[in-house]
Amino acid sequence: MTRKQVHLAAHFPGVNNTTVWTDPRSGSQIDFASFVQLARTAERGKLDFFFLAEGLRLRELKGRIHDLDVVGRPEALTVLSALAAVTDRLGLAGTVNATFNEPYELARRLSTLDHLSEGRAAWNVVTTSDAFTGENFRRGGFLDRAYRYKRATEFLRLARELWDSWRPDAIAVDPETGTFVRPGAIGAVEHSGEHFTVQGQFTLPRSPQGRPVIIQAGDSDEGREFAAANADVIFTPHGSLEDGKRFYADVKRRLAKYGRGPHQLKIMPGVTFALGDTEEDAAENAAHIRRQQVGPQTAIAFLEQVWGRDMSAYDPEGPLPDIEPDLSEGVSQGRVPIKDRAGVAAKWRALAEEKGLSIRELVIEVTGRQTFIGTPESVARLIDEHVQADAADGFILVPHLTPGGLDEFVDRVVPLLQERGAFRADYTGATLRDHLELA
Ligand SMILES: Cc1cc2nc3c(=O)[nH]c(=O)nc-3n(C[C@H](O)[C@H](O)[C@H](O)COP(=O)(O)O)c2cc1C
Repeated sequence: MTRKQVHLAAHFPGVNNTTVWTDPRSGSQIDFASFVQLARTAERGKLDFFFLAEGLRLRELKGRIHDLDVVGRPEALTVLSALAAVTDRLGLAGTVNATFNEPYELARRLSTLDHLSEGRAAWNVVTTSDAFTGENFRRGGFLDRAYRYKRATEFLRLARELWDSWRPDAIAVDPETGTFVRPGAIGAVEHSGEHFTVQGQFTLPRSPQGRPVIIQAGDSDEGREFAAANADVIFTPHGSLEDGKRFYADVKRRLAKYGRGPHQLKIMPGVTFALGDTEEDAAENAAHIRRQQVGPQTAIAFLEQVWGRDMSAYDPEGPLPDIEPDLSEGVSQGRVPIKDRAGVAAKWRALAEEKGLSIRELVIEVTGRQTFIGTPESVARLIDEHVQADAADGFILVPHLTPGGLDEFVDRVVPLLQERGAFRADYTGATLRDHLELA
C-alpha cells in the first residue's frame, strides 16, 4: 500500500504577530522580489501551493493604526497573476472575501488566474462581515453575521454556474467555416436569488481546472458545514495532534451528507516551525523567535485586548498589575474579538502568579509556541506522523521571516519527507488539483 501523502503549502508571512519584521534578515512584504523569492523556494520544495491572506481594513488599536505587526498587504489575485509568470507548477491560492465582492466580477478574475497559470488557481473563500471592515465598501457594514455563509453559498453556486457555462469544446477556431465559437456552446446564466441576480453569459471560456480549487478558512459550525459542502481544502488553526484529530474526524464525518468522500476535502492546518541542529538548538531558536514575536510593546498590546484598558504605563518586563479588566468595550478593531475577557484575564493572572511570569513572559506563554520544534529529522517525523494519524492531510507552513523563512525547511526537512516516501520527489501533474490528488 502506498503511504498517505503529505500536502504542503507556503503562507506568505502577513499581517500578524507571527511575522518578525524587526529581524535584520527580514525584507519587504510588498516588493515583488519578496513574493518571487518565497514562491520560487516553495516550488523548489515541490510544495502544493503558495497562499496569500487578505485584509480589507487596517487594524486599529486604541483608535490608531496597529503598526506593531507588518502593515500594508497588496491585493492577492494581482500578486498571484504576476507570480504565474515566474513559476511553472506551484499552485496559487488567494484569499478573497465573499461578502464585499460581486460573483460575476470575482468569477472572471479567478478564471483569468486559472487561464494565466494553466490550471493552478485556488480561492480561499472568507466571509468577514464586520461593520468596521464594511465601512471601506460602498454599502457599508450591510451584511448581518447570520447571513455570511448564506451569501457565500449563493456566491459560490453562481460562480460555478458561470465557470461551467461554456462547453469544454466551445472554441472551434475553424477558418474554413468562419467559426470561432461553436454555436450554442456558450450557455446562458440566469440566476435570481436572495443575494444576487445575474442574467447573461460569462465572458471567458472554461479554464484549465474548470473551476479554481476552493479553500475554506472559518471555524464555526456553519463554516465547517460550508466546507463540507463546497471546499477542496480547509485552512484551519487546529494543528496539534489531538485537536487536529478531533477537527479532522468532525469535518470528514460531515462529507457523506453532501455525497462526498473523505479524499475530496484536504485538511491543512496552518503551522509554524523552528529548526535546529540538535533538539536543544531548536528549543533555543524557538524561544528566540517567540521573544522577537512578542516584543515589549506587543506584550502590552496583547494585554490591552484582554483588559480593555490603556496599559502603556506598565513595564512589560515587570509583573501583571493588580487591576481589573474593563469589560465595557474592546480596544482593538479588525481582529477576531476575544470571547470571555474576564475569564481569560483570571486565567492569565493565575498562570502569571503560579509561574512568576512578567507581562511579556506571560504573553509569550499564552500566545502559543511553534507547532513543530526540533531537528529536521524530528520535524519531518512529526509532520508525517500527524498526517498518518489523520490529524491532517498536510500543512500550510507559516514562516516567521519574509522572504527567506522557508529556505531551511525546503533545504533540510523536505528531503527527509521525500526519503520517508511521504512527499513527492517531483510534481507529477500540471494543475493544483493534480497536486492535491483531487478529481
Ligand atoms: C486559519 C484561518 C485563516 C483566515 N484568514 C483570513 C484572511 O486572510 N482574511 C480574512 O478576511 N479572514 C480570514 N479568516 C476568517 C474568515 O474571514 C472567516 O470566513 C470568518 O472568520 C467567518 O468564519 P467563521 O465564523 O466560520 O469562523 C481566516 C480564518 C482562519 C480560521
